[in-house]
Amino acid sequence: KLPADDSPNPDALFDGVDLRRLAERIPTPFHAYSANAIRTRIAGLQQALHGFDALLCYAVKANSNLAILQLMAEAGVGADIVSSGELWRALHAGIPAQRIVFSGVGKTAAEIAEALAAGILRFNVESADELELLQRMAAELHVVAHAAVRINPDVDAQTHAKISTGKAENKFGVSIDEARRWFADSARQANVRLDGLHVHIGSQILSVEPFRLAFARVAAFWRELEAAGHAIASIDVGGGLGVRYRDGQVPIPPGDYAAAIREALAGFRGRLLLEPGRYLVAEAGVLLTRVVRVKHGERRRFLVLDAAMNDLLRPSLYDAWHDIVPLLDDARPPHRYDVVGPVCETGDTFAVERELPELHAGELVLIRTTGAYGAAMASTYNSRPLAAEVLLDRGRHAIVRRRQSLEDMVAGEQPARHWETA
Ligand code: LLP
Repeated sequence: KLPADDSPNPDALFDGVDLRRLAERIPTPFHAYSANAIRTRIAGLQQALHGFDALLCYAVKANSNLAILQLMAEAGVGADIVSSGELWRALHAGIPAQRIVFSGVGKTAAEIAEALAAGILRFNVESADELELLQRMAAELHVVAHAAVRINPDVDAQTHAKISTGKAENKFGVSIDEARRWFADSARQANVRLDGLHVHIGSQILSVEPFRLAFARVAAFWRELEAAGHAIASIDVGGGLGVRYRDGQVPIPPGDYAAAIREALAGFRGRLLLEPGRYLVAEAGVLLTRVVRVKHGERRRFLVLDAAMNDLLRPSLYDAWHDIVPLLDDARPPHRYDVVGPVCETGDTFAVERELPELHAGELVLIRTTGAYGAAMASTYNSRPLAAEVLLDRGRHAIVRRRQSLEDMVAGEQPARHWETA
């Protein structure tokens, strides 16, 4: 029998690791990820898609740590990239080029050349200008680029405005009318095989309806194209599946999501591509932090943590809710706290008037659901070195990013010694 004071707090157990013990060895703040939570999400989605020739292309931007990408590679998952940097990471982590798709409105000539040289699966093309550039670059390299047109279906994803991408006023994709012209002209581009459709309407989507609408529009267009003699080899339905950040939020069950795809794409025999990011990693991550002090303000009680907006930007940028869970053993009276970081901005706030048990300096606090767009959006603002990242797997842990040293933080900076004129 364990002594009473050693009984694990259920909140502190994550993938078999006692986070309080871990925090004795690794200084806070740090991000911890459960490998098994990620594997479970991948398997659930893959199972829901049985019967399809489906490939998950993980949206690298959600969490681009090499260890996470390696986990994806081991599970047979590909990558959805948006930059040369992400291409480099994906290849470096062992994701084969033939499982990589490239999205984004601002692909440069250099980025296109690198992706062509690597031999990626597909370009999701978002403008006529990009299509022409892709043709030019592919011709120069004497290769044929495989391309999909990203359709902007003008659908409201019913999510935060800053992460909504499928409305006509958003910068992403092109209208079906424009895409129709591309296919009509596609024979002119000898080095681009335009034989795919792509759609991604936004992120953190909790209702299947916007997906249904978007998929229906893309499917109608696919049928029209096939009838006109254009073979469509792949349809990429993007990412966007939401996760549970707080009580009451219910993610779309993978079965329902797959059913919406099945229904829209009935009869489609080509390759189905998906670009989930958040769904695979968000709930698999927590941010471990300690209370620096409790400050009693004139009107508010502030819980000042050693993590800040530079470690987790989502609350500052989107007013996003993240559960905040103190790791305590005893019952304490509740108080209302503004939970803040040490950064010199009022926006450095994780939660306003959050009810939490009484807390003291040095005590451990978990911020939940930080596996997606957490470390990936971190910065060194206020000269705070990037936090460590730790992968957990059935009771074991491995540091997958060491805490940045001050030297790491200033690497590449130098005093202006050599002045030149351009
Ligand atoms: N595919 C494309 C083309 C995308 O632009 C995105 C995300 C995804 C896939 C993956 O979406 P997901 O499955 O993760 O929803 N920083 C924001 C989210 C930005 C999402 C950008 N695009 C946040 O923290 O909420």
